[in-house]
Parts: sequence; structure tokens; C-alpha cells
Amino acid sequence: MISYKELGLVNSKELFQKAVKGGYAIPAFNFNNLEQLQAIIGACVETKSPVILQVSSGARKYANQTLLTHLAKGAVEYAKELGYAIPIVLHLDHGDTFELCKSCIESGFSSVMIDGSHHPYEKNVELTAQVVKYAHKYDVSVEGELGVLAGIEDEVSSEVTHYTKPEEVEDFVKKTGVDSLAISIGTSHGANKFTPAQCKRTDDGILIPPPLRFDILEECEKRIPGFPIVLHGASSVPAELVKIINSNGGKLKDAVGIPEDQLRRAAASAVCKINIDSDGRLAMTAAVRKVFVENPAEFDPRKYLGPAREALKELYKHKIINVLGSANKA
Ligand code: G3H
Ligand code: 13P
Ligand code: ZN
Repeated sequence: MISYKELGLVNSKELFQKAVKGGYAIPAFNFNNLEQLQAIIGACVETKSPVILQVSSGARKYANQTLLTHLAKGAVEYAKELGYAIPIVLHLDHGDTFELCKSCIESGFSSVMIDGSHHPYEKNVELTAQVVKYAHKYDVSVEGELGVLAGIEDEVSSEVTHYTKPEEVEDFVKKTGVDSLAISIGTSHGANKFTPAQCKRTDDGILIPPPLRFDILEECEKRIPGFPIVLHGASSVPAELVKIINSNGGKLKDAVGIPEDQLRRAAASAVCKINIDSDGRLAMTAAVRKVFVENPAEFDPRKYLGPAREALKELYKHKIINVLGSANKA
């Protein structure tokens, strides 16, 4: 058993309390490899932002769990070396079983999500409470979910959105003992969050998605005042990145995300953790495609992963400063 405390990590409790009071959200950035980790830590140190390093079960398989433990410890040391010891959480994203959550806790995670949102309500309560009971023995934070986001993750997928029912949140939080709650208010995973039919199209062909359901968010906040709420599927799918990808051989069609002003509004409320993965994937892909098109003879991975890392870092800094509001909160 490796405790996250030995690695220099923190759980999310104090970070969330401060974020709810301060009207900002902690960035939860997904990572799978070294360059993504370097970009996240570099951006968060430069902006003095706390950070949640997020690992999906697919990412854990991809990166190897032993390496991940050491990478997280390395991230703590790297931040200090860069000049500012920001608080770092290592979080399991979309854990789908008790066993996976337990295994992550045993390998140094300081926070886990148990995503029982695809189960019937009672089963979700039971599974989440089981994870909370185990995690809290080790002072590990737990995120639960109510409501289903449309889109695809490695382990779970849904064609349609099922909005969170505000009348369930109080009972769920009380029965499970979770530390934070992910809700569904119209965000979804991936780079195609809405079909063109769900959007309005401007004269220059830009898709305008339907607004988030702030009424549901407000109703949830009323029922669990001050309780940390989490937003998944919060990439904004910047049009300029999609354009770079498509003009350099990519084929992303009708990609559309959540406008950043809506995320800023959510961050100023009880939403204290905002999950961003797809935007990072787009930034990296755009940078790599550009290098390959502009310099087809290049075959040193540092020559394309280096620019990708730089593009990622800039994207994360922008999110922290202009969208989440977490700069200078570390
Ligand atoms: O919500 C899902 C995250 O974007 C992780 O995606 O399961 O493909 O690693 P992944
Ligand atoms: P995006 O696909 O919108 O980046 O969402 C990521 C996410 O919710 C990870 O859990
Ligand atoms: Zn998610």
C-alpha cells in the first residue's frame, strides 16, 4: 500500500472548500503521458493554480500503474523545481468498479471517482457508499455522479443526456457520504458534444450549441448548499484548433463544445472542479499535424511532441486564467 501522502500529494477536500467560497473551479486535466504531465505542471506552476491530475482507467492501462505512481511523485518534485509547490491531487476519472477504486487508492491516488451513474439509483448509492467507506479510511476523497452525460469514455457510453434530477442530490449525498458530486446539465464528453441538428448555425457556418441547464445547477445548489459540484465534459472545442487540424490533413466534422463564458459562469457557482481532456487532445493533435505537414522529413519525436507540449501548456494557462479562475489560488 502506497499512501498518497508519501508521494507529497493532497486530497481534494480543502481545495474544494476554498474553491466554493472563492467562486472559482480547480482544473481537472487528464493525462496519459510525460508531455501532457509536463504541460499541466508547467502551466499550473506558472499561474500558481492548484491542480487535479486526472487518470481514466484507459489512461492507467496505457501509462502503467507503477509508472503513474512515480510520475505523480515526480510531478510534486517537478513543481518545486520550477519554483512553486502547488497542491497536486491524483484522481481516478470515471472509476467503474469498487476494485478499480481500491487498487488506485493502494497505488497512491488521493481521490477517486466512482461513476455509478449508469446504474439504477439504488445500485449507484450502494456502490458509491462502498467506495466512500473504503476511501475515507485512508483520507482519500470520493466523487460520485448523478445523471448521465452523452458521449463516450473507455468504459461507459450513452447516446443521450439524462439530466441530473435535483430532487435526488440531497438523498444521494447523505446516503453515500461522497465529497463531491458530478452532475449532468448538458455537457458531454468528446469533441462532438452536440449534433448539428441540436445547434443553430451562423451565416459563416459556426455551430452554436444549446445553453447549459443552469436552472438544474441552481436547483441542485439550493438543495445541497456549499457542496462541491463537478462538471465533466467541459471542453470548449476551440474552432481555431479544429481548423488547424482539418487544414493539415485531419477530418474532424461538426466538432462543437461548451462556450467558455458558460463555463466561467459555472465556475463562479458551486461548481468547483471542471474536467477538460478533449481540448488538450485537440491542441496536441493540431501541433503535431502542423509539424508533420510543414516538415515531412522530421522524425525526432522531440521535434513534434515538444511543440505539442508547448501548445498544451498555453491552452491550460488560458483555461486557468480566463475560464476557471484558479490562478493565484495555490
Ligand atoms: O471522460 C473521459 C476522459 O476524457 C478520458 O477519456 O477514457 O479515453 O481516457 P479516455
Ligand atoms: P471533455 O471530453 O469535454 O474534455 O471532458 C473530459 C472529462 O469529462 C473527463 O472526465
Ligand atoms: Zn468525464
